[in-house]
Amino acid sequence: MSLSGKIAVVTGAGSGMGLATVQAFVREGATVYAFDISQDNLERELSSESAVTTIALDIADSAAVNAAFAQVNQAHGKLDILINAAGVNTPNRQATEWLDNINHSMLEHAKKGEPFAPDFLSEIPDEDFERVMKINVHGTFYAIRAAAPLLKAAGGGAIVNFASVAGLVGLPMPAYYPASKAAVVGMTRSLSGELAPFNIRVNALAPAGINTALLTQSGEDHVQALLSLQPLKRLAEPEEIAETLVFLASDAGAHYTGQVLSPSGGAYLA
Ligand SMILES: NC(=O)c1ccc[n+]([C@@H]2O[C@H](COP(=O)([O-])OP(=O)(O)OC[C@H]3O[C@@H](n4cnc5c(N)ncnc54)[C@H](O)[C@@H]3O)[C@@H](O)[C@H]2O)c1
Repeated sequence: MSLSGKIAVVTGAGSGMGLATVQAFVREGATVYAFDISQDNLERELSSESAVTTIALDIADSAAVNAAFAQVNQAHGKLDILINAAGVNTPNRQATEWLDNINHSMLEHAKKGEPFAPDFLSEIPDEDFERVMKINVHGTFYAIRAAAPLLKAAGGGAIVNFASVAGLVGLPMPAYYPASKAAVVGMTRSLSGELAPFNIRVNALAPAGINTALLTQSGEDHVQALLSLQPLKRLAEPEEIAETLVFLASDAGAHYTGQVLSPSGGAYLA
């Protein structure tokens, strides 16, 4: 087991890629702290896993994040792995419905060959922009800041952040999501240098179409539009991505740092 004896924190652990990662890490012998805003999801998915401690928190609340890492410190005095999977593509359900409607119109116009110019910009209130940045960027930062002393105490470790292909190329969508994911890329690259003297590696994934609620809630036509941009014509399953995270977190990935790997079925070629 490649993660035997390792202590890991996974954020966004109640669903999708975070959940699949928790399950893969447990299989590989790690003890895992699973953070998520949804207590229901954590309980439903992970309450029977004896190697997992669940903590319900909002990753955008730095005091709550600090308290959760203090709990890890008290129990183990160290941390080996941090996976920052908590993330959103919209700030709330209402914004998701608004975006779905625009995406639907965009696709209908494209099918008919008609022009369509979505006006995302004027319809994004301050609080929506700020909430997405708070979760995707601030939350990632809060977790890394709180984890760093524990990773140093372990003599080194691995951090993997979740960016997105939307942070690497220009896609038509509300600016908060690509802005937040590009910030995660910048943070990853900068912190890989800052933390290298402590043998802490920092990498990021920039996925495209992964079969999770975050993507599929937008409907089949949205998924098909995304797949039309991908040479590999299928969504990836979260369990496949979890294997990449096992690799990056384990000694097998020991020479990777500051990298942005894009599991995107060939949609993004760096
Ligand atoms: N699914 C895709 O196609 C795709 C593509 C590119 C990037 N991503 C990124 O991958 C990461 C994982 O997403 P996923 O696809 O597994 O989605 P998901 O919705 O299945 O999982 C995200 C998890 O984050 C949790 N979360 C949301 N806000 C939170 C908060 N404030 N505090 C704590 N937890 C919070 C959710 O409750 C959920 O369990 C995200 O950062 C997402 O932006 C996903």
